[in-house]
Amino acid sequence: MTAKIPVTVLGATGTVGQKFIRLLADHPWFEVAAVAASSASAGKRYGEVVRWREGVAIPERIARLTVQECTPPLAGPIVFGAMDADVAGPIEQAFAAAGAYVVTNTRNHRMDPDVPLLIPEANLEHLALMDRQQQGRGWPGAILANPNCSTAALVLALVPLHRAFGIEKLFVSTMQAVSGAGYPGVASLDILGNVVPFIGGEEEKMERESRKILGALGPEGVTPADFAVSAHANRVATVDGHLMTVSVGFRRRVTPEEATAVLRDFRPSPRVACLPSSPTPPIEVESRADRPQPRLDLERGRGMAVTVGRVRACPILHLRLALLGHNTIRGAAGQAVQIAELLVAEGRVDRPA
Ligand SMILES: NC(=O)c1ccc[n+]([C@@H]2O[C@H](COP(=O)([O-])OP(=O)(O)OC[C@H]3O[C@@H](n4cnc5c(N)ncnc54)[C@H](OP(=O)(O)O)[C@@H]3O)[C@@H](O)[C@H]2O)c1
Repeated sequence: MTAKIPVTVLGATGTVGQKFIRLLADHPWFEVAAVAASSASAGKRYGEVVRWREGVAIPERIARLTVQECTPPLAGPIVFGAMDADVAGPIEQAFAAAGAYVVTNTRNHRMDPDVPLLIPEANLEHLALMDRQQQGRGWPGAILANPNCSTAALVLALVPLHRAFGIEKLFVSTMQAVSGAGYPGVASLDILGNVVPFIGGEEEKMERESRKILGALGPEGVTPADFAVSAHANRVATVDGHLMTVSVGFRRRVTPEEATAVLRDFRPSPRVACLPSSPTPPIEVESRADRPQPRLDLERGRGMAVTVGRVRACPILHLRLALLGHNTIRGAAGQAVQIAELLVAEGRVDRPA
């Protein structure tokens, strides 16, 4: 590909928006052509209004861009959504109605029956829901959703086990980083030296979304996977990365050795493996007893891989394990970019000549 595809980032000043700007800075196919945020930021230079929190300098070209209102049309066929969920729903619909492919990180449309809720390595075939959406809503564009950040890591780690053995019961307890709450997020006095055993709406999202992603696509849409999920969400004082401990029951007894082999051997469809943001392998299995850890394992696969460790027998369900995923990369901006790459690779968005 010679010329790059122009893209827009909505909510570009926020935690996820900044990650988009960083990840797209040197992207081989995409170029940020417009940044948009709330009316408080619109009309000012990006570099002046953003509270930049990434560990590299703001790309100079982007710092000079004027922040736009989140109103269509904006540049390019692909729009990345990273707006506050309280306002995102109708704005994303307006962009899709105006012809954009909106890859969103917000919760608003994830469970709509005609919106694909995607983890490319797990449910590539759900992309076809776009056609139903476009026909049903009469939109030239479409909305495609990223799952909630903890669901993204959890389901990516579980998909090979579900395919091989069939999940029946799933118990998950999370230790979620403060960046998952956006900026400024959790007040420092609430989280320093503390753990908060509640994240509003998170457990319900994990329980619903995991079953949709692993569900079967049929003529009537997605039938959710038939397993029970019990999720416990906790906020801990790490900056990035959601660590989870999981117990799983399957349709048959599964040994840790079998499960480890299935996780290690997992490779996505070549249609996904070839995308620039796809990590190889998508699941890294750790044999060291005290891993994964956010500080040591978060950047694996440039933040797009999940790390699984401590795969062992469970005396209540069949198997126990720990897993770690990057909440703003695999759980948000990185995977949204991967979904946009999929749209291009599948011929849904034209490549410039
Ligand atoms: N943080 C994570 O790990 C994570 C992971 C997955 C999904 N998400 C989801 O991604 C979205 C963004 O999360 P975040 O953590 O980046 O939040 P954030 O840091 O609070 O950023 C929110 C963004 O929304 C913009 N915004 C606020 N009100 C707006 C309005 N009325 N019109 C247009 N834009 C508006 C803000 O612009 P201003 O700067 O101008 O106010 C800012 O760019 C949320 O829906 C969140 O649930 C977050």
